[in-house]
Amino acid sequence: MSVTSVVGLQWGDEAKGKIVDFLTDSHEVVVRYQGGNNAGHTVKFDGQTYKLSLLPTGILRPGVKAVIGNGLVVNPEALLKEMKSLTDRGVQVDGQNLLLSDRAHVILPYHIVEDAVFEKRRGNQAIGTTGRGIGTCYRDKAGRTHAIRVGDLYHPETFRTKLADIVAFKNLTLKALDSTLEPLNADAIYESYMGYAEQLKSHVVDTTAWLHRALKEKKNILFEGAQGSLLDVDHGTFPYVTSSNSSSAGIHSGSGVPQRAITRMIGIAKAYTTRVGGGPFPTELNNEIGQHIRDVGHEYGTVTGRPRRCGWFDAVATGYGAKICGVDEIAVMLLDVLAQLDALCICEAYEIRGERTTDFPSHVEDLEVAKPVFRKIPGWKKDITHARKLSDLPSGARQYVDTISELLGVPAKFISIGPDREQTILL
Ligand code: IMO
Ligand code: MG
Repeated sequence: MSVTSVVGLQWGDEAKGKIVDFLTDSHEVVVRYQGGNNAGHTVKFDGQTYKLSLLPTGILRPGVKAVIGNGLVVNPEALLKEMKSLTDRGVQVDGQNLLLSDRAHVILPYHIVEDAVFEKRRGNQAIGTTGRGIGTCYRDKAGRTHAIRVGDLYHPETFRTKLADIVAFKNLTLKALDSTLEPLNADAIYESYMGYAEQLKSHVVDTTAWLHRALKEKKNILFEGAQGSLLDVDHGTFPYVTSSNSSSAGIHSGSGVPQRAITRMIGIAKAYTTRVGGGPFPTELNNEIGQHIRDVGHEYGTVTGRPRRCGWFDAVATGYGAKICGVDEIAVMLLDVLAQLDALCICEAYEIRGERTTDFPSHVEDLEVAKPVFRKIPGWKKDITHARKLSDLPSGARQYVDTISELLGVPAKFISIGPDREQTILL
């Protein structure tokens, strides 16, 4: 039996979807355990491109069960839209292959309004959220008073009463923060959410109990992380993070499956670094090399279309992610994007106020002044998208991957040299 976890080691967008899709063949269950429709995963196969946000990537494979665990924040309208976009293309999405936890939290319209209002008030300290009401929904979850879970939608009378109370409170606070806002209507929200609940009914189960049965039946389970370890609310670059445990720390709390059940922990790392939104980024390249990486790597957000900030590979930050997650192996993604550069840099340490360190700073102000100490590696200047085995790669490319492995202290088991499934070198 294999219980595998695929988790991002950087600031998200590490191309986790490709490795999840790759591994889905050998797994019967694919589980999302945190985040929501802030994630954006692109999967390509058979000449088709699928863009997924809330749905686990496993949904694309016949016979695989896709599970949305208790740790997610679910926008039911967005979920239904995404489900329809797949069924319209002939992909099966029904109560047989998509399960939704009754413990997952529900994103309501006021969460999206609050997300925008809070961001605006942060001014030049804005987090640069995806605007999907993710953080504000998690805020209500932790706060308990104003939280609605999926299971609550199936207790209509209690839901109606609770919603009326919450909406009254939200209207009061939102009006105080921005007097131009129109008040929200609890009855209208109730009606539309009852409609969503009806449409989602066949998917809603106690996924925790279901997963424990799957474990007992020795099913192969794959955990699909969204975002990345450096966006983890506890371990990431706080406050420039998302609001969930997006490192592998979230698996246990977000699925009910104990961490010790996991037999294989795979960390996904891009061959360079990207970040969307605000926050420190020591190896950022605000120059033509950064723009070259952005152009070649198509580094524009799947969810929001924002250009991603690009920079050199950071072994301090990524190595920290690898430690937090306890990865056994890594996948080095998008190596082909670096093929045309004359020379490459890998950050192996930081210099913070004159002191050299390989520890990832806990305070954002220390990270802001961290100067990367680079190891230089000659470029290979050769197209590598047709390589299928390690020996097909030029020695410079191999040296580059070896250096990443060495600095992280973790072996590389996958090298991705293009978006298609076949463009993957297994080691
Ligand atoms: P995938 O799964 C990259 C970032 C946002 C913002 C911060 C908080 O595609 O790797 P939020 O809306 O979550 O409150 O925004 O987190 N962010 C991501 N960055 N990839 C993602 O997901 C992200 N999901 C959120 O840009 O900086
Ligand atoms: Mg993405």
